[in-house]
Amino acid sequence: MLIGGQPTRTIWPTAEGAVEILDQSRLPHEVVTVRLEGLADAAAAISEMKVRGAPLIGVTAAYGMALAASEDPSDPALAAARARLTATRPTAVNLAWALRRMSEVLAPLPPAHREAAAWAEAFIMANEDVAACRAIGEHGADLIGEIAARKPGETVNILTHCNAGWLATVDWGTALAPIYVAQERGMALHVWVDETRPRNQGAALTAFELGQQGIDHTIIVDNAGGHLMQHDQVDLCLVGADRVTGAGDVANKIGTYLKALAAKDNGIPFWVAAPGSTIDWAMDDGVAQIPIEERSAHEVTHLWGALEDGTFGVVQVSAPGSAAANPAFDVTPARLVSGLITERGRCSATAAGLRGLFAEA
Ligand code: MRU
Repeated sequence: MLIGGQPTRTIWPTAEGAVEILDQSRLPHEVVTVRLEGLADAAAAISEMKVRGAPLIGVTAAYGMALAASEDPSDPALAAARARLTATRPTAVNLAWALRRMSEVLAPLPPAHREAAAWAEAFIMANEDVAACRAIGEHGADLIGEIAARKPGETVNILTHCNAGWLATVDWGTALAPIYVAQERGMALHVWVDETRPRNQGAALTAFELGQQGIDHTIIVDNAGGHLMQHDQVDLCLVGADRVTGAGDVANKIGTYLKALAAKDNGIPFWVAAPGSTIDWAMDDGVAQIPIEERSAHEVTHLWGALEDGTFGVVQVSAPGSAAANPAFDVTPARLVSGLITERGRCSATAAGLRGLFAEA
């Protein structure tokens, strides 16, 4: 998608055998790229959230394995690389999915052939992610089109949480891809952007990418959504996912569950967009089984941003000395999810619905 009118991706390999990423920890204030020279850089980029969002975490991990194979393609070195990358962030299952796929490709090969194979596979995975997200966009735009048809001549108001746009993937995004395709199809849209405390991925990243794409949007505090839903100002809630169980429970950024509850109470459709790589077929009880990342309390008590004098800085927003807790994700039970949008089409948030699209999984 576009930054300054230029088509841009979030991650790409360089001719010199490194990987470049857009540093999302500096957005929206600075557009800078960072070069990942080795496995350690890739692991740090994920854990420090220079890259984030479930599909992009997976693709970065795949490139991390390629960087590792360039350093040492032996079995013990690749096993250690996989363990190191696995430990970076626990909730998005795309990470484990990507690492398993890389291991399945690399393990049967003689070590001398692994470096080239790893780079090739990571590149394929990045392009597959782009294609999957574009397909999610097409299927999701059909849904938006159905809502638009029920209010001809009026704007469709969509509420989203966190950032599940192109910055969370290689390109296009998951929850925002339908919005971009709907824009291509000429629909009138407005997006309510939850700021998404504590890291503000909505206010910083979703608002940035919607603005770059010329989509009408308004940032709201996280607690405003229920009020807007009660007053007919939301036609559709559309969010991404970090893990979807085989039964349709959805882990996504903390606060998603509360939006789903409010949507249910107000009869507003609540849809989740995610590629097949986000489905964890080994789990069927999201609340009990999905690991929830606990992040630093410092993210709750302090904020980074642009100061009024144009410099950047960190300010403390909490009472000094108070304890803070920072669970980064929550689980929305399948019963609150109107449906799932995948690259293979739409389905109910049920085991039968998912199996209908992914029979081979
Ligand atoms: O902590 P983050 O920024 O990695 O969390 C991202 C989200 O929760 C997204 O909604 C999710 O990964 C879907 S990305 C297409």
